[in-house]
Amino acid sequence: MERLYCILIGYVFGLFQTAFIYGKLHGIDIRNYGSGNAGTTNTLRVFGTKAGLLVLFGDIIKTILAVVLCGALFGKAHPEELYLLKLYAATGAILGHNFPFYLHFKGGKGIAATAGLVLSFHPTFIPVGVVLFFGAFLLTHYVSLGSLLVYAGIMIQMVVSGQMGLFHTSQGILNEMYIITAFLTIMAYYKHRENIKRLLKGEERKTYLTKKNKE
Ligand code: G3P
Repeated sequence: MERLYCILIGYVFGLFQTAFIYGKLHGIDIRNYGSGNAGTTNTLRVFGTKAGLLVLFGDIIKTILAVVLCGALFGKAHPEELYLLKLYAATGAILGHNFPFYLHFKGGKGIAATAGLVLSFHPTFIPVGVVLFFGAFLLTHYVSLGSLLVYAGIMIQMVVSGQMGLFHTSQGILNEMYIITAFLTIMAYYKHRENIKRLLKGEERKTYLTKKNKE
Protein backbone atom coordinates (compact mmCIF):
# COMPACT_ATOMS: atom_id res chain seq x y z
CA MET A 1 0.00 0.00 0.00
CA GLU A 2 2.88 2.38 0.81
CA ARG A 3 4.14 1.85 -2.74
CA LEU A 4 0.84 3.09 -4.12
CA TYR A 5 0.86 6.12 -1.81
CA CYS A 6 4.35 7.03 -3.01
CA ILE A 7 3.37 6.66 -6.67
CA LEU A 8 0.36 8.92 -6.04
CA ILE A 9 2.42 11.50 -4.14
CA GLY A 10 4.96 11.46 -6.96
CA TYR A 11 2.20 11.76 -9.55
CA VAL A 12 0.89 14.91 -7.85
CA PHE A 13 4.38 16.47 -7.96
CA GLY A 14 4.71 15.45 -11.61
CA LEU A 15 1.52 17.36 -12.40
CA PHE A 16 3.54 20.57 -12.06
CA GLN A 17 4.04 20.63 -15.81
CA THR A 18 6.65 23.36 -16.00
CA ALA A 19 6.67 23.76 -19.79
CA PHE A 20 2.90 23.95 -20.00
CA ILE A 21 2.71 26.44 -17.12
CA TYR A 22 5.52 28.56 -18.61
CA GLY A 23 3.71 28.58 -21.96
CA LYS A 24 0.38 29.52 -20.39
CA LEU A 25 2.05 32.37 -18.47
CA HIS A 26 3.22 33.62 -21.88
CA GLY A 27 -0.16 33.21 -23.52
CA ILE A 28 0.27 29.94 -25.42
CA ASP A 29 -0.27 26.21 -25.09
CA ILE A 30 3.26 24.90 -25.75
CA ARG A 31 1.71 21.71 -27.12
CA ASN A 32 0.51 23.64 -30.17
CA TYR A 33 4.03 24.74 -31.11
CA GLY A 34 7.26 23.16 -32.30
CA SER A 35 7.26 19.42 -31.69
CA GLY A 36 4.09 19.72 -29.59
CA ASN A 37 5.89 18.33 -26.56
CA ALA A 38 5.48 19.95 -23.15
CA GLY A 39 9.12 19.68 -22.17
CA THR A 40 12.50 21.36 -21.91
CA THR A 41 13.56 20.92 -25.55
CA ASN A 42 10.39 22.33 -27.02
CA THR A 43 10.41 25.24 -24.57
CA LEU A 44 13.97 26.00 -25.65
CA ARG A 45 12.84 25.77 -29.27
CA VAL A 46 9.84 28.05 -28.81
CA PHE A 47 11.00 30.49 -26.11
CA GLY A 48 14.79 30.26 -26.09
CA THR A 49 17.58 28.87 -23.94
CA LYS A 50 16.80 30.71 -20.66
CA ALA A 51 13.21 29.46 -20.69
CA GLY A 52 14.44 25.96 -21.52
CA LEU A 53 16.80 26.00 -18.55
CA LEU A 54 14.02 27.19 -16.25
CA VAL A 55 11.75 24.35 -17.38
CA LEU A 56 14.61 21.88 -17.05
CA PHE A 57 15.13 23.00 -13.46
CA GLY A 58 11.42 22.83 -12.61
CA ASP A 59 11.03 19.33 -14.03
CA ILE A 60 14.15 18.02 -12.31
CA ILE A 61 13.32 19.53 -8.93
CA LYS A 62 9.77 18.18 -8.78
CA THR A 63 11.04 14.59 -8.91
CA ILE A 64 13.61 15.34 -6.21
CA LEU A 65 10.94 16.96 -4.00
CA ALA A 66 8.65 13.94 -4.38
CA VAL A 67 11.53 11.66 -3.33
CA VAL A 68 12.38 13.88 -0.36
CA LEU A 69 8.76 14.03 0.82
CA CYS A 70 8.27 10.26 0.61
CA GLY A 71 11.61 9.78 2.35
CA ALA A 72 10.35 11.98 5.22
CA LEU A 73 6.89 10.40 5.36
CA PHE A 74 8.14 6.82 5.39
CA GLY A 75 11.46 7.45 7.13
CA LYS A 76 10.83 4.66 9.62
CA ALA A 77 10.66 1.96 6.94
CA HIS A 78 13.50 -0.54 6.56
CA PRO A 79 16.28 1.18 4.55
CA GLU A 80 15.87 -1.18 1.58
CA GLU A 81 12.11 -0.70 1.60
CA LEU A 82 12.54 3.06 1.97
CA TYR A 83 14.83 3.09 -1.06
CA LEU A 84 12.12 1.39 -3.10
CA LEU A 85 9.39 3.70 -1.79
CA LYS A 86 11.41 6.72 -2.88
CA LEU A 87 11.99 5.07 -6.25
CA TYR A 88 8.22 4.65 -6.62
CA ALA A 89 7.78 8.34 -5.74
CA ALA A 90 10.19 9.30 -8.54
CA THR A 91 8.38 6.94 -10.91
CA GLY A 92 5.09 8.60 -9.97
CA ALA A 93 6.58 12.03 -10.69
CA ILE A 94 7.64 10.90 -14.18
CA LEU A 95 4.17 9.43 -14.76
CA GLY A 96 2.53 12.68 -13.63
CA HIS A 97 4.81 14.66 -15.94
CA ASN A 98 4.17 12.40 -18.92
CA PHE A 99 0.47 11.80 -18.37
CA PRO A 100 -1.11 14.75 -16.49
CA PHE A 101 -4.84 14.08 -16.17
CA TYR A 102 -5.73 17.78 -16.46
CA LEU A 103 -4.01 17.96 -19.87
CA HIS A 104 -5.91 14.92 -21.14
CA PHE A 105 -2.80 12.85 -20.32
CA LYS A 106 -0.74 14.69 -22.96
CA GLY A 107 2.34 15.87 -21.10
CA GLY A 108 6.08 15.58 -21.74
CA LYS A 109 8.51 12.75 -22.41
CA GLY A 110 9.99 12.56 -18.93
CA ILE A 111 13.69 13.09 -19.59
CA ALA A 112 14.22 16.03 -17.22
CA ALA A 113 12.00 14.35 -14.61
CA THR A 114 14.18 11.23 -15.00
CA ALA A 115 17.27 13.37 -14.47
CA GLY A 116 15.74 14.18 -11.06
CA LEU A 117 15.51 10.44 -10.36
CA VAL A 118 19.11 9.79 -11.38
CA LEU A 119 20.34 12.74 -9.29
CA SER A 120 18.41 11.40 -6.28
CA PHE A 121 19.50 7.77 -6.54
CA HIS A 122 22.43 7.17 -8.85
CA PRO A 123 24.52 10.33 -9.29
CA THR A 124 27.41 8.06 -10.30
CA PHE A 125 25.45 7.33 -13.51
CA ILE A 126 25.62 10.98 -14.52
CA PRO A 127 29.06 11.09 -16.22
CA VAL A 128 28.07 8.36 -18.71
CA GLY A 129 24.72 10.09 -19.27
CA VAL A 130 26.38 13.45 -19.89
CA VAL A 131 28.83 11.92 -22.38
CA LEU A 132 26.04 10.07 -24.23
CA PHE A 133 23.67 13.02 -24.28
CA PHE A 134 26.10 15.76 -25.24
CA GLY A 135 28.00 13.45 -27.58
CA ALA A 136 24.82 12.75 -29.55
CA PHE A 137 23.52 16.29 -29.28
CA LEU A 138 26.72 18.07 -30.31
CA LEU A 139 27.32 15.69 -33.21
CA THR A 140 23.75 15.62 -34.56
CA HIS A 141 21.71 18.35 -32.82
CA TYR A 142 19.03 15.72 -32.20
CA VAL A 143 18.01 16.04 -28.54
CA SER A 144 15.76 13.00 -28.85
CA LEU A 145 18.70 10.80 -29.90
CA GLY A 146 20.61 11.98 -26.83
CA SER A 147 17.58 11.26 -24.61
CA LEU A 148 17.16 7.75 -26.01
CA LEU A 149 20.86 6.97 -25.57
CA VAL A 150 20.78 8.26 -22.00
CA TYR A 151 17.89 5.92 -21.17
CA ALA A 152 19.70 2.96 -22.72
CA GLY A 153 22.78 4.00 -20.72
CA ILE A 154 20.82 4.07 -17.45
CA MET A 155 19.37 0.62 -18.12
CA ILE A 156 22.81 -0.84 -18.89
CA GLN A 157 24.43 0.83 -15.86
CA MET A 158 21.64 -0.45 -13.61
CA VAL A 159 22.10 -4.04 -14.73
CA VAL A 160 25.91 -3.90 -14.66
CA SER A 161 25.94 -2.27 -11.20
CA GLY A 162 23.37 -4.78 -9.92
CA GLN A 163 25.26 -7.78 -11.26
CA MET A 164 28.52 -6.44 -9.77
CA GLY A 165 26.79 -6.24 -6.37
CA LEU A 166 27.29 -2.49 -6.13
CA PHE A 167 23.80 -1.86 -4.72
CA HIS A 168 24.43 -4.05 -1.63
CA THR A 169 20.82 -5.12 -1.58
CA SER A 170 18.78 -8.33 -1.64
CA GLN A 171 17.91 -10.06 -4.92
CA GLY A 172 14.20 -9.29 -4.36
CA ILE A 173 14.80 -5.54 -4.10
CA LEU A 174 17.22 -5.68 -7.01
CA ASN A 175 14.62 -7.42 -9.19
CA GLU A 176 12.08 -4.72 -8.35
CA MET A 177 14.65 -2.04 -9.25
CA TYR A 178 15.23 -3.75 -12.60
CA ILE A 179 11.48 -3.92 -13.26
CA ILE A 180 11.00 -0.21 -12.47
CA THR A 181 13.95 0.73 -14.68
CA ALA A 182 12.67 -1.43 -17.54
CA PHE A 183 9.19 0.10 -17.16
CA LEU A 184 10.61 3.64 -17.27
CA THR A 185 12.80 2.82 -20.27
CA ILE A 186 9.90 1.33 -22.23
CA MET A 187 7.75 4.36 -21.35
CA ALA A 188 10.48 6.76 -22.50
CA TYR A 189 10.86 4.94 -25.83
CA TYR A 190 7.07 4.85 -26.23
CA LYS A 191 6.87 8.61 -25.59
CA HIS A 192 9.61 9.11 -28.19
CA ARG A 193 7.96 6.88 -30.81
CA GLU A 194 7.34 9.77 -33.24
CA ASN A 195 10.92 11.02 -32.69
CA ILE A 196 12.21 7.51 -33.48
CA LYS A 197 10.22 7.41 -36.74
CA ARG A 198 11.57 10.84 -37.71
CA LEU A 199 15.14 9.86 -36.76
CA LEU A 200 14.91 6.75 -38.94
CA LYS A 201 13.63 8.83 -41.87
CA GLY A 202 16.26 11.54 -41.27
CA GLU A 203 13.46 14.03 -40.62
CA GLU A 204 13.95 14.77 -36.93
CA ARG A 205 14.02 18.43 -35.84
CA LYS A 206 17.46 19.72 -35.06
CA THR A 207 17.80 21.87 -31.95
CA TYR A 208 20.33 24.62 -31.39
CA LEU A 209 21.25 26.60 -28.34
CA THR A 210 21.09 29.74 -30.46
CA LYS A 211 18.46 31.79 -32.28
CA LYS A 212 18.58 29.32 -35.19
CA ASN A 213 15.59 27.50 -33.68
CA LYS A 214 13.39 30.47 -34.45
CA GLU A 215 14.20 30.62 -38.19
O1 G3P B 1 13.21 15.40 -23.83
C1 G3P B 1 12.45 15.45 -24.99
C2 G3P B 1 13.36 15.27 -26.16
O2 G3P B 1 13.99 14.03 -26.09
C3 G3P B 1 12.66 15.40 -27.46
O3 G3P B 1 11.88 16.57 -27.48
O4 G3P B 1 10.51 18.32 -28.45
O5 G3P B 1 12.24 17.22 -29.84
O6 G3P B 1 10.20 15.95 -29.22
P1 G3P B 1 11.17 17.03 -28.82
